[in-house]
Amino acid sequence: MTNSQQPTPPPADKAYLARSVQRKLRDVSVSVDFERLSYIDAPRPEQRHWVTNRAVDELVEQLRHLDVTAPGYVGGASRREIDPGQWSGSTATYVDGELLIEDQQVMQDWEIPLMRRMAEVVAAGHGDVLEIGFGLGLSAGFIEDCGVNSHTIVELNAEVADVARAWAATRPESDIVIAEGSWQEQTHRLGLFDGVFWDAFPTSESEFDQYVLRDSTVAEAFFPFAAAHLRPGGVFTYYTNERDSLSRRHQRNLLRYFSSFGVELVSGLRPPDDCEYWWADSMCVVRAVK
Ligand SMILES: C[S@@+](CC[C@H](N)C(=O)[O-])C[C@H]1O[C@@H](n2cnc3c(N)ncnc32)[C@H](O)[C@@H]1O
Repeated sequence: MTNSQQPTPPPADKAYLARSVQRKLRDVSVSVDFERLSYIDAPRPEQRHWVTNRAVDELVEQLRHLDVTAPGYVGGASRREIDPGQWSGSTATYVDGELLIEDQQVMQDWEIPLMRRMAEVVAAGHGDVLEIGFGLGLSAGFIEDCGVNSHTIVELNAEVADVARAWAATRPESDIVIAEGSWQEQTHRLGLFDGVFWDAFPTSESEFDQYVLRDSTVAEAFFPFAAAHLRPGGVFTYYTNERDSLSRRHQRNLLRYFSSFGVELVSGLRPPDDCEYWWADSMCVVRAVK
């Protein structure tokens, strides 16, 4: 059959050619308007209609879920701004199960169940583990309890690094190295590991803006470093900042660097009413495999 004999396709349904997708529910309305006709330019209008409706329905479902769950948050409190460039030399105050640096609630001990589970995930192979951020040393202790071949800890704050060195000295039978400095400058000096654990903290307003507000997860900037320093089959886990599931962009970022990942929930968390960095009673734990 020559081109001139091709049957002309039936005219597309008007709904498939619509320039907007709308949902009007009792409590919320969503309208997505396409400013360019070729936006999401799938071969057939039906395909565009299908995938954009799925995307809008996902947003509506996420809003419904937030409507149901947000009243259960703790009230929380506002944090103070972080002075740039001070973190490494700032005073680290350890008081009542909490670490404060630069007036920030850097770590609180309600995270114990989360740290324990993350440590179990990263140390399951009992190999060489890289940990970013010592904090209260909770995860470090749990990683040691699991029994690992070696344990390298990168810590930026000088006083916290002193605490980490004192802690390591109480475990002479373990192979523990404290690398003082930021993960951004230290990681490339390090070798390969079987497990990588990331739990740092934004140390400036620009890091807060990028890592906490803009990125898909606070650990996203570290993903390429984790992948580069893991042996094949090695495991990466990190503070996810995700309450009950991973967003699509978070999952896509994981799949850019890792061959697979699993997600589980740690529930029953009890952040205090004045917590400045977490409001919910659960957080996702990820096990990403190189
Ligand atoms: C949330 S605490 C870690 C808590 C730890 N997992 C625990 O169980 O106690 C974050 C730690 O990361 C350190 N930190 C922040 N930014 C860092 C960076 N860029 N590189 C290395 N350490 C960093 C902080 O000084 C702090 O000690």
